[in-house]
Amino acid sequence: IEQKINYNPSEPPFVRYYVPFIGSMIEFGVHPIKFIRKYQKKHGNFFTFLMFGRRMTVCVDIDGNDFVFNVKHSNVTAEDAYNSLTKPVFGEGVVYDVPNSMLMEQKRMIKSGLSIESFRAYIPIIIDEVNQYVDKHWTKDQDTIDLLQSISEMIIMTASHTLLGPEIRSKLYEGIADLYHTLDSCFTPIHFLFEWLPLPSYYASEKAHAELDSIFAKVIADRRKEPGEKHIDMLDALMASKYKNGEPPSDKHIGNMLIALLMAGQHTSAATTTWALLNLAENPAIVNEARTEIGSMLGRELKGGSSVPEISYENVKDFKTLDNVIRETLRIRSPLVQLMRKVVKPVAVPNTSYVIPAGYYIIASPIISSTDEKYYKNAEAWVPSRWNNSDADEQADKSTTDYGFGAMSTSARSPNLPFGAGRHRCIGEQFAYLQIKTILYTLLTRFDFELDPKRGMPERNYQSMVVLPEGPVLCQYNRRTIKNQ
Ligand code: HEM
Repeated sequence: IEQKINYNPSEPPFVRYYVPFIGSMIEFGVHPIKFIRKYQKKHGNFFTFLMFGRRMTVCVDIDGNDFVFNVKHSNVTAEDAYNSLTKPVFGEGVVYDVPNSMLMEQKRMIKSGLSIESFRAYIPIIIDEVNQYVDKHWTKDQDTIDLLQSISEMIIMTASHTLLGPEIRSKLYEGIADLYHTLDSCFTPIHFLFEWLPLPSYYASEKAHAELDSIFAKVIADRRKEPGEKHIDMLDALMASKYKNGEPPSDKHIGNMLIALLMAGQHTSAATTTWALLNLAENPAIVNEARTEIGSMLGRELKGGSSVPEISYENVKDFKTLDNVIRETLRIRSPLVQLMRKVVKPVAVPNTSYVIPAGYYIIASPIISSTDEKYYKNAEAWVPSRWNNSDADEQADKSTTDYGFGAMSTSARSPNLPFGAGRHRCIGEQFAYLQIKTILYTLLTRFDFELDPKRGMPERNYQSMVVLPEGPVLCQYNRRTIKNQ
């Protein structure tokens, strides 16, 4: 029996539902993108649905993105929407567990660890980590692997080494990776929906945090004993930073910021790198284009074999084909398809008659506009060359630090916002581009890839907070030996 919905006509239209309380949860959960497109067609860019007792107002297209990302913080906050989900993962005192003004200060500190100087230092570390991984695990000339699993390991190794430093990286497989995994298992829709339930994972995460605290405390104390020795990584940057009031962040908060960065970048970058490689596996002409472009930049052909030519920060910045590959992958396979805020004071939606009441959640889903035919011809197709035209550059928001990577998608009125916009905009975009490009460069120098003929291109799996390719993500690598060239 369809529920009669008693809503105020000044609110956005309400999606009809049949099961009280549960509302549209199942239809939304199975395929959020299909769900949003269906009701966008019916109700327009703003509509509300019921999900497990919560009223969720979807805000899409350019106007919806702009509203969610730029709404006044006094009326709508991210911390009220996310903290129950992120606190067990990131720990206390950081990101959404502090007032927004403090998060802004923490983002400023983090930015100081993402400087051009540090990016220069990170490139050889990333190449070395990827080489070590493939030398250990991809030992045959040809084999079928679970690509998502391999890439996820490369992401955690490279991010741990560059951001958290060599001390933590060297202990990654002495228990630290398992502790991360314990924290990560709290990052699921269940933990958002059942925030009031004393789930066992919360106790496990408290224990994991206590262990990580003592590991970080020791590394920090050891570094303080040798103040002359400079490390170029996020840990050193955070140890050197201060809040506006002159206080440094505590060791525990430094540790939790590092955990938050690692977690924020793990599945997002792993999914993006995996989708990029799967699409490249289907498009060998684009792989050749990238190799030719890089080869002519370096003045030597990328012939295969196990030696990966050194590259500079400037080189990576100029890898235009790989840049297009990542940008296009993020356009159609953004790993974050629902970004949330909670309304704490009623808020009017600009240029409409709608007022969204306190207690509602609002959801932005930039992938809806980035895959809309209105903005992109043949919008569902993966066509990296569509970014060749320089119009995209004009969208760059000059207010963010531009290291030369991925700064195109920052205007809040752009249809393509895989990194969000406004005060909560991603701080890791430049790092993600550097990391993903360097991983792709290393792998494409040494291997060719083919989709598994039986599995083909995987579907998307919407069951986790970060949308991943549905596993197992089977893919074949073929070693490029010099004699075959
Ligand atoms: C926030 C996407 C990689 C750190 C965000 C947001 C998006 C996003 C859409 C906005 C969330 C919102 O408005 O609710 C991505 C994608 C990535 C990526 C697609 C990779 C391809 C990274 C990396 C790091 C990172 C590598 C860390 C080095 C953060 C942090 C925030 C954030 C700390 C929270 C900012 C805030 O709420 O103020 N990311 N991200 N991200 N990202 Fe990323």
